[in-house]
Amino acid sequence: MLMRKVPVFVPASPWGLRLPQKFLFLLFLSGLITLCFGALFLLPNSSRLKRLFLAPRTQQPGLEVVAEVAGHPLAREQESPPNPAPAVPAPGEGDASSQASTRRRKVWLRRTHPTGTREMATVARSSGSTALRPQEGGIPFSFDFNAFRSRLRHPVLGTRADESKEPQSLVRAQREKIKEMMQFAWRSYKLYAMGKNELRPLTKDGYEGSMFGGLSGATIIDSLDTLYLMELQEEFQEAKTWVEENFHLNVSGEASLFEVNIRYIGGLLSAFYLTGEEVFRVKAIKLGEKLLPAFNTPTGIPKGVVNFKSGSNRSWGWAMAGSSSILAEFGSLHLEFLHLTELSGNQVFAEKASVLPAPPTSEWWKVKVLLVSVSWQVRNIRKVLRKINKPFGLYPNFLSPVSGNWMQHHVSVGGLGDSFYEYLIKSWLMSAKTDVEAKDMYYEALEAIETYLLNVSPGGLTYIAEWRGGILDHKMGHLACFSGGMIALGAEDAKEEKRAHYRELAAQITKTCHESYARSDTKLGPEAFWFNSGREAVATQLSESYYILRPEVVESYMYLWRQTHDPVYREWGWEVVTALEKYCRTEAGFSGIQDVYSSIPNHDNKQQTFFLAETLKYLYLLFSEDDMLSLEDWVFNTEAHPLPVNHSDGSSRAGGRL
Ligand SMILES: *[C@@H]1O[C@H](CO)[C@@H](O)[C@H](O)[C@H]1NC(C)=O
Ligand SMILES: *[C@@H]1O[C@H](CO)[C@@H](O)[C@H](O)[C@H]1NC(C)=O
Ligand SMILES: *[C@@H]1O[C@H](CO)[C@@H](O)[C@H](O)[C@H]1NC(C)=O
Repeated sequence: MLMRKVPVFVPASPWGLRLPQKFLFLLFLSGLITLCFGALFLLPNSSRLKRLFLAPRTQQPGLEVVAEVAGHPLAREQESPPNPAPAVPAPGEGDASSQASTRRRKVWLRRTHPTGTREMATVARSSGSTALRPQEGGIPFSFDFNAFRSRLRHPVLGTRADESKEPQSLVRAQREKIKEMMQFAWRSYKLYAMGKNELRPLTKDGYEGSMFGGLSGATIIDSLDTLYLMELQEEFQEAKTWVEENFHLNVSGEASLFEVNIRYIGGLLSAFYLTGEEVFRVKAIKLGEKLLPAFNTPTGIPKGVVNFKSGSNRSWGWAMAGSSSILAEFGSLHLEFLHLTELSGNQVFAEKASVLPAPPTSEWWKVKVLLVSVSWQVRNIRKVLRKINKPFGLYPNFLSPVSGNWMQHHVSVGGLGDSFYEYLIKSWLMSAKTDVEAKDMYYEALEAIETYLLNVSPGGLTYIAEWRGGILDHKMGHLACFSGGMIALGAEDAKEEKRAHYRELAAQITKTCHESYARSDTKLGPEAFWFNSGREAVATQLSESYYILRPEVVESYMYLWRQTHDPVYREWGWEVVTALEKYCRTEAGFSGIQDVYSSIPNHDNKQQTFFLAETLKYLYLLFSEDDMLSLEDWVFNTEAHPLPVNHSDGSSRAGGRL
């Protein structure tokens, strides 16, 4: 409803009003409409569902989608993906739009031509901000990249430690080793699967998967920031060139809103914030637009699956017979959508400009308005969740996007729930600690989790169980192991009397997750581990014994290291590096293994994109100085893509630490 209606309000003559007036007018209208449609909407943040889908045994062949590649006219595909809210052309717009399509075709030609692309980048650099003149790229709004960079408290890559110091040299060698692993993973991918979503290292070919709606290059987009961080310049350049020349958005399959958001949008946003290269901003926004149909539901809570061709939406078939949206999915949008809106156009720019820029395309206005209204919705997801009745203050994982009711009382800090909690605390941090609602909800949720889900085993291991309508499953998934890092990250802003407690809790959970690694033959952890029948922190069946290169445990090591500088976290991180080299490295890339309790590895033939985005990045950060991607300046989305903290203009560039 919402999405379909908004564009109708685009003034018939878009240039009749001054730019700022139009913007405010549209913003007001979209807000009004959102309000009228009710209170509903949502929350920010978190899921790692991806990981569930990728798990060898939970893959659903039925979800496999073959991207339809049927003919879209060239001009359409890049410039105008199927409009999520098929706009009724405003009266009098007909002529303009046919002109527009001619112009679009030219722009398209320029953009796909390599020279044109370089030209774009040059314009961006030489103008000092990333604004493109409308006639150059069709993106009339600017984002002041230099101003953004000047507000960071630390250089992005940190101020290097004195590399000649003795104790540093071991760490440096370890860091170099991890960099070599990244280089190897990248080169293998490039050699055998360039452009495909993932590398299959045993069969030495590429794999597209079913979650991305026909989009390709997931490994490339997920790797950009890691390559940049590790200063693998040649590889970064290869990745960037691929994005410029081959990352096409003219796809028409069915995609997971969540996966596309955290991997592609997150990866492009980070690449933009790290480099200021306009191509990443433009593609992030255009891809963001393609996701908007998912939000077209009675409650505003998005559905899990969006069809890029028809612009329709649906829920996952396995989610309560297609009736539910997943907490971790609709709860993990906030960070990215705030940035998308910000980058899609800067009101300040419009207000400050004494001479208005040439009229933006009406197409772009639509995108802008849609993004603003969807961001509003994304913020309101949280309000819906805040108001809704929660069993014991817990958030179940399945919610109907139609009625706004819980569909099942399954609560988990692992798969299906995880990143919802993560995005609450990260929304608070990313807002430079102004988003008090997110903070309050986070600590309330954490208290409920502690009261009802937290347990200590007879052997003294602290773990977070899963909850099914009041009954506990004494099990913890690998996915839930990110929670040690999350609790550490959130400890500082808790009530004073709770801070030490949360630090200790974070350390204990992380220790338990380490035990799940230490108790296996490979020193890698299983997908899920149990605490019952006298066995602790081990998988009890083969179907839960696999390890697919997941990052959550090293993610927690990284946060705990930054918080405590206890050398044990680097020791544990190094155990993982050693085990990966021994059991997961193959001739042509890294592969997951099917049984962590067998020292003769049975490879699963997949080099997951999150291995490059997350596992190797967190390991590298673990062996780097604290001011490399300082937590004062950056929050990591749930795919480990760094997004900047919103330091306001006024804040000084203090020489703070950590
Ligand atoms: C998308 O556009 C590119 C560039 O023209 C083309 O090579 C590709 O085949 C198109 N893909 C689809 C699915 O239409
Ligand atoms: C999306 O789902 C909602 C709720 O089921 C439905 O009303 C709406 O028509 C769907 N939108 C599209 C564009 O398919
Ligand atoms: C940053 O803060 C400003 C001012 O409060 C706000 O307008 C803007 O949307 C915020 N940006 C992000 C990405 O949160």
